[in-house]
Amino acid sequence: MSKVSGTPFGVTKKGEEVRELTLDNGTISCKIITFGATVRTLTVPGRDGAVDVVLGYDTLAEYEENGGYFGAVVGRYANRIAGGRFVLNGKEYTLARNDGPNHLHGGNVGYSHRVWTVEEAGADRAVLTLDSPDGEEGYPGHLQARVTYALEGSALSIHYEAVSDRDTPCNLTNHSYFNLSGQGSGDVLAHKVQLFCSAYTPAGETSIPLGTVDPVEGTPMDLRVPTPIGAHIGEPFQQLVWGHGYDHNFVVDGQPGALRPAARVCSQATGVGMEVETNSPGMQFYTANFVENGRKGKGGAVYSSRHGFCLETQHFPDTPNQPGFPSATLKAGERYDQTTRFRFFLLEG
Ligand code: BGC
Repeated sequence: MSKVSGTPFGVTKKGEEVRELTLDNGTISCKIITFGATVRTLTVPGRDGAVDVVLGYDTLAEYEENGGYFGAVVGRYANRIAGGRFVLNGKEYTLARNDGPNHLHGGNVGYSHRVWTVEEAGADRAVLTLDSPDGEEGYPGHLQARVTYALEGSALSIHYEAVSDRDTPCNLTNHSYFNLSGQGSGDVLAHKVQLFCSAYTPAGETSIPLGTVDPVEGTPMDLRVPTPIGAHIGEPFQQLVWGHGYDHNFVVDGQPGALRPAARVCSQATGVGMEVETNSPGMQFYTANFVENGRKGKGGAVYSSRHGFCLETQHFPDTPNQPGFPSATLKAGERYDQTTRFRFFLLEG
C-alpha cells in the first residue's frame, strides 16, 4: 500500500529495508528513520545559525546495537513495569525483564526496534504506522499504532494514535535526547529548565514508583522556576542518588487530556529555547545518566552522561500495577490519542 518514500538508510540485521524521511518547512527541519520511527536530526534556528538539537547516530547498525533509545518512539509501554508482570481483567501477563528485575520500554524488541511503515510522507508531515500482533512481547491484543510528525511553524508536533482489539496497557512516547547548545557540544548542565509540574512520583532503587504522588516543594525536584539543570543534580537527595541524576516522572500541572505547558528549556550558548506541551498526565525528565563516556554519535560527536536531556511525555511508570495512578489501559476498540508539541524560539538579547 505504501509507496517508497525518502532515501535508503540501511538494512536491519533481519534484512528489512529502512528509509529516512526529511521534513522541512523553511523554519525547522528534521530527519526521521523508519527504524523505531526515530527522530535522527532536528534542526532549529539559533542565534548564530541552524542548530541540530538532538543526539543521534550516522548508521542503522548503531541504532540497532546501542542502548539508550535515541530519538525513538517507545512502546507498547514506555518506561517500566515492575517485575515484568501485571494483571488485567483478572488475568496475569508476563513480560520480558530487560532492565534488572523490571520491564523497560516495551521489552526486548519494543516499537523502538521495529521498522515502521510509511503511510504518508509530505514536505512537512510524515505518518508512520506499526502493526503489533496479539501477544507481542507478552502484551494482550493486536494493536495498531500510528504516529504523525508535523512541522507547524517553529514546532515539531507528534501525534500518537493506537487501537487494539483487546484491552491492553498502552503508553507511547518519543525518547529524543535534546541538547539546545547543539548535539555533541558537551553537557547540558547550564541549560535552564522549567517544569510546569508541582508533583512527581518518587521511585525506589530500581526506578519503580513507590505509589505516592509527592509535592516537589522544598526538594531538588522543584523546577517550577527556571533553574540550571546542574544546580541541584549532584545533591545527596535520595531520589537523585538512586536515579544517578534526574530520571523521574513528573506530574504535569493541569488537566490530563488537555494540551497544556509541561516544560520550557533554554540554552544561553545558542539562544535556543524549547517549550513542551502535552495532553499526557506525566513526563519523564531524564538527564542521560546512563549514556557511557565516549559513546560515538553523529558527525564525529562524542557523547557522555548528561550530554542531553529527555522529556518523555507519558502515563506514569508502572501504572498497570498502581491502582492509584491515572489508568493507562487502552480499552478494546477505543482510540489512544496523545499529542506532544516541541516549539522552538530564540531567546531575546
Ligand atoms: C528511563 C531511564 C533509562 C533510559 C534509557 C528512560 O526513559 O527512565 O532509566 O535509562 O530511558 O533507556
